[in-house]
Amino acid sequence: MKDEALPLRKFAAVSDWTAEVNGLPVRLAIAPARRLLDVIRDDLELTGTKRSCEIGRCGACMVLIDGRPANACLTMAYQCEGRPIRTIEGIADGAMHPVQRAFLEEGGYQCGYCTPGMVVSATALLDANPDPSPEEVEEALSGNLCRCTGYGGIIRAVRRAVELRREGN
Ligand code: FES
Ligand code: FES
Repeated sequence: MKDEALPLRKFAAVSDWTAEVNGLPVRLAIAPARRLLDVIRDDLELTGTKRSCEIGRCGACMVLIDGRPANACLTMAYQCEGRPIRTIEGIADGAMHPVQRAFLEEGGYQCGYCTPGMVVSATALLDANPDPSPEEVEEALSGNLCRCTGYGGIIRAVRRAVELRREGN
């Protein structure tokens, strides 16, 4: 029996993807199966967003989508089509953000791998709730793992960020 060629499957290899990343419009041709994490790091070269567990456990890849924290490793790029995305590079906005300053002052900056995600999560918390209770801080950072278990400095940093924001710094 003569071999028959399989019918060609038609699918879109790439499609236009648009979003607003750190306040700037972005338009890329990307495959539908791309993750947001890979687009951010590999296409946009915004490497402050870290690639670690890749299964939503560690929080190293945290970004803000519509102002809300999201694991970029679990987010497909097409899911944020046309939406505002903020990475750690967009947090500072020219001057050091109070959360970043507080992390430096209180020893919350421990390793470069976890810290960007921690800062992103803390920023989202304080934008939504400028004076969170200790339980609310713990809850907000529960998706960010620190393998050195040095959470004391991180929690102090978030409290200090509350003060700095109140003082307008
Ligand atoms: S790399 Fe996304 S949660 Fe760990
Ligand atoms: S801050 Fe990265 S392991 Fe603790």
